[in-house]
Amino acid sequence: MRFLISAGPTREKIDAVRFISNRSSGKMGYALAEAARDAGGEVVLVSGPTRLTPPDNIAFILVENAAEMAAAIHAHAAESDIIIMAAAVADYRPVKTYAGKMKKANGNLTLELERTEDILLTLGRNKRTGQKLVGFAAETDDVLENAIGKLQRKNLDWIIANDVSCTDRGFGSDHNAVTMISASGACDEVTLSDKKTVARRIIRKILED
Ligand code: CTP
Repeated sequence: MRFLISAGPTREKIDAVRFISNRSSGKMGYALAEAARDAGGEVVLVSGPTRLTPPDNIAFILVENAAEMAAAIHAHAAESDIIIMAAAVADYRPVKTYAGKMKKANGNLTLELERTEDILLTLGRNKRTGQKLVGFAAETDDVLENAIGKLQRKNLDWIIANDVSCTDRGFGSDHNAVTMISASGACDEVTLSDKKTVARRIIRKILED
């Protein structure tokens, strides 16, 4: 089985010293890459900037921003049997970036942002027969309803929903609790566990499906 897994945040440049990013640590995506490798898979991990050491015996691609992540994912998508988008890809990036450092001026500053590509949506539109597509839905409100919306809109096989309003799990934490929902209506709940355990459960479930 060939796995393509994304992890971590992206950084969208404002100027030479500033960027827009998010709290993703990359731990869930890295744990998934390890679990997929341990299950006998061939793994390509595409990661935004994190503090983590890449797992051994996988192919590792480091990217900075959403556009680079999109390019790396699309370059490996066709050959992959299972694609898991665990990265917290920025939805917006600054329209204008500055090569040097922006200087402050009096008054307010308005930054204009434009949408980045929704990589998972593109993957869903181009999904080939037999390929499995898995997305994450990090939500604070109406977790399951929003997750099912994403599953359908992006033509996914599984969505992994997690509630990121609690600080003991999800973003940045070593632990997670998720609900997996499949396009065929299967549901599997993984109660609060360390991310390596959650990752093994997720990989097992996807491979069983
Ligand atoms: N994703 C992606 N490309 C983006 C943004 C997100 O591929 N530009 C993927 C993430 O990796 C994740 C899923 O899409 O698997 C998250 O779905 P999304 O609808 O983008 O959720 P949010 O970014 O949280 O956006 P919102 O809830 O505002 O719709």
